[in-house]
Amino acid sequence: MAIQKVGVVGCGLMGHGIVQVAAQGGCQVVVLEAEQKFLDSGLARIDKSLTKLAEKAAEKAVKEGKANEADAKAKATADAAATRARIRGTTSQQDLADCDLVIEAIVENLDVKKKLFKELGAICKASTIFASNTSSFPIGEMATASGRPARFVGLHFFNPVQLMKLVEVVRTDSTDAQVFEDAKAFGAACGKAPVACKDTPGFVVNRLLVPYMTEAMRMLERGDATAQDIDTAMKLGCGYPMGPIELTDYVGLDTTLFIVEGWTKRYPDEPAFTVPAVLREKVKLGKLGRKTGEGFYKWEGDKRA
Ligand SMILES: NC(=O)c1ccc[n+]([C@@H]2O[C@H](COP(=O)([O-])OP(=O)(O)OC[C@H]3O[C@@H](n4cnc5c(N)ncnc54)[C@H](O)[C@@H]3O)[C@@H](O)[C@H]2O)c1
Repeated sequence: MAIQKVGVVGCGLMGHGIVQVAAQGGCQVVVLEAEQKFLDSGLARIDKSLTKLAEKAAEKAVKEGKANEADAKAKATADAAATRARIRGTTSQQDLADCDLVIEAIVENLDVKKKLFKELGAICKASTIFASNTSSFPIGEMATASGRPARFVGLHFFNPVQLMKLVEVVRTDSTDAQVFEDAKAFGAACGKAPVACKDTPGFVVNRLLVPYMTEAMRMLERGDATAQDIDTAMKLGCGYPMGPIELTDYVGLDTTLFIVEGWTKRYPDEPAFTVPAVLREKVKLGKLGRKTGEGFYKWEGDKRA
């Protein structure tokens, strides 16, 4: 694989998962954080996840009769340690200079992302491929800011990265064909199924999912059906694990509003990108869903109350 050394910027919710799957895929990984304390907590999350993974792998090996308990544990622990040894943290951008690929997973703010890519464009070797994990911004704008649009892709992972099997690999009109192939190969090495998509709002998943969620909210507003009945209908009628209203609570009403508002501003003529009033009202009241204990439903931790 062309990509051997990977830089990840941001070791938060998404970044720590991307670091882990890249290291599991055999890459050397340098992860950059803004401050040492964020780096420490991100790396601690990876340690916890690798320990859990090792326990599961050992259990599976014993269950399948592949090894006795002691040997299975020793092997799983050694595999986790080898993965961890491929990961290094830093707070200095200079440490990303010789990476083959740098993936950005920082705050969802286009100006901050553009500034970062401009800086990285001046630091990284000419062959470094840049990728953004953005959920809602055009890849092309960041590609231009980086000064190397031909070597820029979107690599959109899903939360939780360690478990979700998909990565959307996004190309702009300027993306070099080989760069795109290398990015897809990297996604596959991380254990993900890469799907190719052009640089369109929401790529594949969010372009279909977010308007589905807002349409469900508009049904609620019109009084067409209750939240419970909308969710039950989509679960039992379509076999979805969660209905759209419950899903909005799960994702976060603020996150959903942020995405749709951004699209509304950028694409004012697209009827699928309008903000339901109920979404705006609930966010104003601080009812952000699961994370605040109330959105459309009441929550106790990760479970509906
Ligand atoms: N949360 C999701 O479900 C999800 C899913 C797919 C994509 N995304 C996208 O992934 C990106 C990250 O989201 P997240 O949920 O992991 O955010 P997060 O807030 O959990 O993590 C972001 C991290 O980036 C760090 N950071 C910010 N600026 C930095 C800089 N200049 N240099 C180094 N580190 C910096 C922060 O300290 C923080 O730890 C966003 O673009 C988001 O849209 C999120």
